[in-house]
Amino acid sequence: MRPMPDPATVLTERLEAAITAAFGPELAGTDPVLRRSDHADFQANAAMALGKRLGHKPREIAERIVEHLDASDIVEEPVIAGPGFINLVFRSSYLGHALEAEAADPRFGVPRVENGEPTMVEYSAPNVAKEMHVGHLRSSVIGDALARTLTFAGYPVLRQNHLGDWGTQFGMLIEHLVDLGWAEPGHDHTIADLNALYQEAQTKFAGDDGFKTRARDRVVALQSGDATTLALWLELTEESKRHFVRVYAKLGVLLHGDDIRGESFYNDELAATVAELEAKGLITMNDGALCAFPPGFTNRDGEPLPLIVRKSDGGYGYASTDLAAIRFRTQVLGLARLVYVVDARQSQHFAMVFAIAQQAGWLVDARAEHVAFGTVLGSDGKPFKTRSGETVKLVDLLDEGIERAAAFVADKGPDLDAETRAAVARAVGIGAIKYADLASDRVKDYVFDWDRLLAMDGNTAPYLQYAHARIRSILRRAAADGFGPGPIHVEAPQERALALALVAFSETVAQVVETLQPHRLCTYLFDLASTFSGFYEHCPVLRADTERERASRVALAELTARVIAQGLDLLGIEAPDQM
Ligand code: ARG
Repeated sequence: MRPMPDPATVLTERLEAAITAAFGPELAGTDPVLRRSDHADFQANAAMALGKRLGHKPREIAERIVEHLDASDIVEEPVIAGPGFINLVFRSSYLGHALEAEAADPRFGVPRVENGEPTMVEYSAPNVAKEMHVGHLRSSVIGDALARTLTFAGYPVLRQNHLGDWGTQFGMLIEHLVDLGWAEPGHDHTIADLNALYQEAQTKFAGDDGFKTRARDRVVALQSGDATTLALWLELTEESKRHFVRVYAKLGVLLHGDDIRGESFYNDELAATVAELEAKGLITMNDGALCAFPPGFTNRDGEPLPLIVRKSDGGYGYASTDLAAIRFRTQVLGLARLVYVVDARQSQHFAMVFAIAQQAGWLVDARAEHVAFGTVLGSDGKPFKTRSGETVKLVDLLDEGIERAAAFVADKGPDLDAETRAAVARAVGIGAIKYADLASDRVKDYVFDWDRLLAMDGNTAPYLQYAHARIRSILRRAAADGFGPGPIHVEAPQERALALALVAFSETVAQVVETLQPHRLCTYLFDLASTFSGFYEHCPVLRADTERERASRVALAELTARVIAQGLDLLGIEAPDQM
C-alpha cells in the first residue's frame, strides 16, 4: 500500500498545479516556496519571485494562484497577506485523516523508494592493533545513523568497514609478536592491551637498529606472502576484530564481522588498478613515484598537486587502496552511491581520489560522497583527551556514560527493578553519547561535555527518551482505566501544532536521505517532543472533558511516542518504555 503523502507535500503539489493553471505550462515545476508560518499553518511565498519574473505585482500573482488553487478539500479559504504571502490553514478534518493514516502505517508515511540505488555506507574504519578511541566514535555513530535511515527509506545498503589492516607498520608489529614468542608452538596468543602492543613496537623501532632492520624485512615478507608472517598478521587482525566487534555491540551500531573489508582486501587489485590508470593516461612518473594529477588541485604555489599512486620503492599506499576500492565497489559490486563517513581532515584526499576515479570512468554510473565530520573537543577547546593527555579509549568513555546514567536513573526511576534499571542506564548512557554526536551539524567540531549531553532539558537523548517513557506511562494509565485510542480530532491550537509536527516525519526522513545530515532528524524529534509537552500542558488526556476528546488525545499521544521511538531507532538510539 502506498502511504498517504504528508499534507505539506500534497499542498505543494496543489500549489504547483495552480501556478501552471494560472500562468501556463512554461511555469510547470515552479517551487511554490511553502514555509511554516506563525500566521497560519503554512505560507506560500512564490508570488514575490514570480512577480519579478512576470512583471506583475506579487499581490496580483498571489490572487491568481489562489483563484486557480484546487484545494478546498484540504485547506480553509486562503488569505493573502502583506505584499503577496498566501496564508494557508489545513482543514482540521484533513489533518485528522492524515494522522490516522500515519498511525495505521508502520512506516509512518515514509514511502519506500522503488528501485533505490544500491548504496554503500563506509564507516568506522579503525586501525588494527590500536584500540578504538574517541576519534572513531563519530564515524561509527554517524555512519550507522545514515545506514539505518537509508535502509528504512528502502535503499539496498551495503555497510563497509574499511579496516586499516595493511601497511608498513605491520612489519614492526609482527616482528614484535615474533619477539614475544608468537611464532613458537603452544604460545598463548592473546593481547591484553592492543595499544600497549603498538607502543612497545614503536619504542623498539625507534631505539633498536637491529629491530628496525628486522621490521623492514618483515614488511617485505608480509607483502610477498610469507606463510609465517601472514599467519601472525592474521592473528593480530583477528584479535583486533574481536575487540572492534565487542565495541560495536556495546555501542549498538550494526557493524559486524562480515561488514569488514579491510585495506588488505584490495591488495590483489592494486597492480591492475594502477595499470588501468596508466593505460588511460592518467598517471605520470614523478621522482620515481607514479602520480596522478587530478585537474583543479594545486599547492600553495599553484603547482599541480600529486596523488601518489605507487611509491618510488614500488609500494602502494593509502591512496592506491582507495582507488582500488572505488573501482571494486562500482565495477565489481555495482554500487551506485558511495558514502564515505570519514573525518573532515581527509577531505582533500577524497576529493582527489574521487576526481581520479571520475577521470578513470569509474564514477560514470555512480556517485561518491565524502560525509565529513569535525573533531570531538574537550572543554578546553582542544581535541578531547584524558586528564593526563592521552587519547580517550572508546570503551572507557562508553562505560563512564553508562555509570553516570545509572546514577541518574536511580534518581528518576526509583520503582524500577534492578535489571530494568541497568538496561535503562545502558540505553541512556550510550544514547546520550551518540545523540550528542549526531545532534549538531556534523561538519562542525563539538565539545564533549557530560553535563550537557546528559541534561534532561534541551536537545539531548535523555530528554527525548524521558519524553517517550512519560508518554508510555500516560498510555499505561489510560489502558488501566480502560481508555484506548479513537478517531483523531484536531481542535485546540496545541493539538494542531502537534499534528503538524507529527505529519512532518516523512519529509524529515527524506531530508536526511538527501543531505546525509542526521542532525535534521534530531532537531525534528526535539521539536516534536517539545510540542508534545506544550500539548500535554494544555490538553488533558486522561481527564479530557469528553470520551471523544480523550480517545483522540490518547491516539495523538500514542502516535507521538511511536514516532519518537522510530526516529531514535533511525539514529541507533533505544527508547525504553519506562525510566
Ligand atoms: N583507517 C583510516 C583512519 O583511521 C580511515 C579510513 C577511511 N576510509 C577510507 N576509505 N580511506 O584514518
